[in-house]
Amino acid sequence: MRMEIKKVGVLGCGLMGSGIAQVSATAGLETVVLEAEQSFIDKGFARIEKSLAKLAEKGAIKEASAAIRARLKGTTRKEDLAGCDVIIEAIIENLEEKRKIFGALDGVVKPEAIFASNTSSLSITELMTSTKRPQRFVGLHFFNPVPLMQLVEVVRTIATADDVYESAVAFGKKVGKVPVRTSDKPGFIVNRLLVPYLLDAIRAYEEGVGSIPDIDNAMKLGCGHPMGPFTLLDFVGLDTTYYITHVMYEEFKERRFAAPPLLKRLVLAGWYGQKTGKGFYDYADPKNPVPGKFV
Ligand code: 3HC
Repeated sequence: MRMEIKKVGVLGCGLMGSGIAQVSATAGLETVVLEAEQSFIDKGFARIEKSLAKLAEKGAIKEASAAIRARLKGTTRKEDLAGCDVIIEAIIENLEEKRKIFGALDGVVKPEAIFASNTSSLSITELMTSTKRPQRFVGLHFFNPVPLMQLVEVVRTIATADDVYESAVAFGKKVGKVPVRTSDKPGFIVNRLLVPYLLDAIRAYEEGVGSIPDIDNAMKLGCGHPMGPFTLLDFVGLDTTYYITHVMYEEFKERRFAAPPLLKRLVLAGWYGQKTGKGFYDYADPKNPVPGKFV
């Protein structure tokens, strides 16, 4: 039977976790966010308040921000998630860390609750085996910035029960997203198509096809993309992209998923994009990013 989700637990209050918590609370659901330290909760909740203020200013939310905020609770205690109907994990992209937290919560959260991961690259199947509820385990892959991006990929494994999967799809709609159905293969739908495109942009640059701003402008103005590939790479994070390429290349062994040398060099240098202030562009002045010259 399809499960009605009323109370949501979110693991991690970083960029993705705070965004997921925000859309959940905005949809009228009681939402509890688990973090390792109170300071991470404070930082994430400050981000949520800023985002809600912006959306309220534009008339994009119907309710007062304070009422949405009142449905959100931060905690450092796992026990506070015991009564949640769904748990959505959005912690660091590390298999062992994710398996550890799912395993620890399995004995705390009620057995009928659905467990979900927001991972963009790890196998949902490998995560589900850290619990005793593989049939109640799915992927719910949201996109950055979560409050603005309309999509959620709902990922099923060979073990996911039909009613659990339909409940997850309904939850995606409930939080205001358009759910797409996909299966547990590296990259799901979006990254399966997006990652080779982003890597091809780097290869084109390495081969002298165009400069970084020219390639970005070409795809923005010629194809109507909101961001060019290098701006998007810096936005997603070069470390994140590099990590995803590893998982995809490992599975498919196809060159189109292999990281070009320049991507690896930028990651080795610690230039991860917007979050470190430098990537394909330099963000010393965030309003006027300066493109790098690497070839
Ligand atoms: N909450 C509320 N408002 C926000 C916000 C947030 N989290 N983030 C940005 N905004 C606001 C901005 O402040 C701005 O407000 P303003 O109009 O009052 O100035 C407004 O949204 C629009 O932003 P911008 O003017 O800076 O830029 P855009 O009009 O281009 O919109 C965008 C921003 C929606 C991010 C758009 O550029 C876009 O769609 N970019 C592509 C993003 C994308 O592809 N994301 C997916 C990445 S892949 C991924 O996440 C998967 C992972 O697995 C790798």
